[in-house]
Amino acid sequence: MAFSLDIFSGASAVAVSEILAALQTASFQNGLERHWSCHDMSMAFSTMGAKTLILSEEDKPIAFLLWRAVLDEAEILMICVLPEYRGRGHGGKMLEVLYDNLAIEGVHEVFLEVSENNKAAIALYQKNAFKIVGRRKNYYGDKGIQQQDALIMQYILPKVML
Ligand SMILES: CC(C)(COP(=O)(O)OP(=O)(O)OC[C@H]1O[C@@H](n2cnc3c(N)ncnc32)[C@H](O)[C@@H]1OP(=O)(O)O)[C@@H](O)C(=O)NCCC(=O)NCCS
Repeated sequence: MAFSLDIFSGASAVAVSEILAALQTASFQNGLERHWSCHDMSMAFSTMGAKTLILSEEDKPIAFLLWRAVLDEAEILMICVLPEYRGRGHGGKMLEVLYDNLAIEGVHEVFLEVSENNKAAIALYQKNAFKIVGRRKNYYGDKGIQQQDALIMQYILPKVML
């Protein structure tokens, strides 16, 4: 099976945002995170320092990772893999590529927020050396309805010896 991993930044916002929004809609059917429209995606992708990695199988996009890096700090905004392609190491592979990319850019630490109920994502992040460093109470869901805390996770990139 031929896989490709391509990184895009703001210049390609419109076309890429449509791909991201379609993948996100198909990926978040568990109600654990907020749905992002194509417009939301485009806004996030257009902010300074935002980049996305799209993983394709035989030219079909099946997963993406969206992040933002400013100076020596980065934030993962979203990661998703289409349901039928999960459990094959794609999430972990995208994080590896992210870490390599951030190391080259001189980023020192990476943060993210994830629902406390999102066991698959938390396990993926912990397997890839993220640690829980904080919690935002009732961050997800509407007031009083199925509210969930957000866990704040951090990964510190190893120092590169010159
Ligand atoms: C979270 C997500 C990206 C994981 O992608 P994936 O390609 O299936 O992950 P991988 O195959 O690389 O798994 C790597 C590790 O993560 C953990 N993991 C992944 N899915 C898991 C699950 N359903 N249950 C428990 N652990 C899981 C395991 O430790 C796994 O390692 P192992 O296979 O050696 O046990 C995917 O489930 C997804 O797209 N979920 C919906 C979107 C989402 O919730 N994104 C996160 C918030 S933005």
